[in-house]
This record gives sequence, structure tokens and C-alpha cells, in this order.
Amino acid sequence: MALQDLLAAIEATPVAQAIAGSAFLFPVIEVVHVAAIVLVVGTIAMLDLRLLGVARRDQGVLDLSRETLMWTWACFVLALVTGSLMFASAATRYAGLWAFQGKIVLLALAGCNMLVFHAGAYRSVAAWNTQLPPPPGARIAGALSLTLWTGVVICGRWIGFL
Ligand code: HEM
Repeated sequence: MALQDLLAAIEATPVAQAIAGSAFLFPVIEVVHVAAIVLVVGTIAMLDLRLLGVARRDQGVLDLSRETLMWTWACFVLALVTGSLMFASAATRYAGLWAFQGKIVLLALAGCNMLVFHAGAYRSVAAWNTQLPPPPGARIAGALSLTLWTGVVICGRWIGFL
């Protein structure tokens, strides 16, 4: 099945049609999307600033990540569900927008950065949990994460202007 056919099939689903046809559903879903991404990006930024050694310097990286990661993941799932519903309502249009494509690429890169960090620097976190500044691998991961997530938000907001 060609991509365009798949996107048209997604858009033709009863759920997508209901969202597209309602003056109420899309705004409510977008409000939940915004609330979810505020918590996703907010909790990630807190950890990134700690990894850079510029915030929460009195708290260990392990303690902070234990406090925040549960919220990050729960709200990420909520952002994924609400984003997918909005996407489905006009899949053929959104898929063709540079801002949407850019957002998905940046989301994937942010995920890769997190995987590289967890497979690398984070494995020895017990040794540098309260160290200031944290080791270069942690600081690079924090800086990259902040940059990529800022890009996701910029692209996400720009979608609405296209
Ligand atoms: C946690 C990751 C995500 C972040 C940080 C994010 C960020 C954003 C932001 C900032 C907006 C603009 C909201 C506004 O000001 O009204 C937005 C809208 C949107 N997002 Fe996301 N998003 C995420 C995940 C997703 C996913 C996974 C999808 C789709 C598969 C998606 C699809 C959309 C769509 C379709 C819009 C609506 C654009 C419009 O106004 O027409 N988002 N997102």
C-alpha cells in the first residue's frame, strides 16, 4: 500500500472522521496534548540542566531521574496518543508539512540521544551521581537533549501556522 493510500485510510477511519467533523474534539485533544508536552519537556529539561551541572546542584542525578522519569514517560504516552489522534484527523495534510516531518525526525533523534546516554555515561552514574560538573558524556547528552526538544516544540507550534 502506497504511503498516500495509508494516510488516506487513516483519515477515513471513524475516529479520525469524528475528530475532523467536530468543532469541539480537536481543541480538547490539543489542550491535553499541550498539557502533556509541558510535563514531558519540563521534566526532561530539569534533568538536562542537572546533567549540565547548572540546576538542582544539591541533588544527585539518580534521585532526580527517579523523581521525574515516571512523569516523563506517562506524559509522553499521553502526548503520543493525543498527537496521533490529531494527526489522524488530517493525516494527508500533516504528513506533507515540513514542520511535522521535522518534528518527527527531531523526536527520533531525541530518543536516540537518550538511548546513547543510557547505554553510555549513565551506566556509571553511581560513580558521578553528585559530581559537579558531571562527566563530558552526561553534559553533551544534556545539551543535545535540550536542543532537540526545543526543536520539537518549535516545529510542533509551527505546524499550526502552515
Ligand atoms: C512528546 C512529544 C511531543 C511534543 C513535545 C509535541 C509538541 C507539540 C506542540 C508544541 C504543538 C503545538 C501545540 C499548540 O500550540 O497548539 C503540537 C501540536 C501538534 N502535535 Fe505534537 N508533540 C509531541 C508529540 C506528537 C506526536 C507523536 C504527534 C503525532 C504522531 C504529534 C502531532 C501533533 C499535531 C498533529 C499537532 C497539531 C498541530 C495543529 O495545530 O494543527 N505530536 N505538538
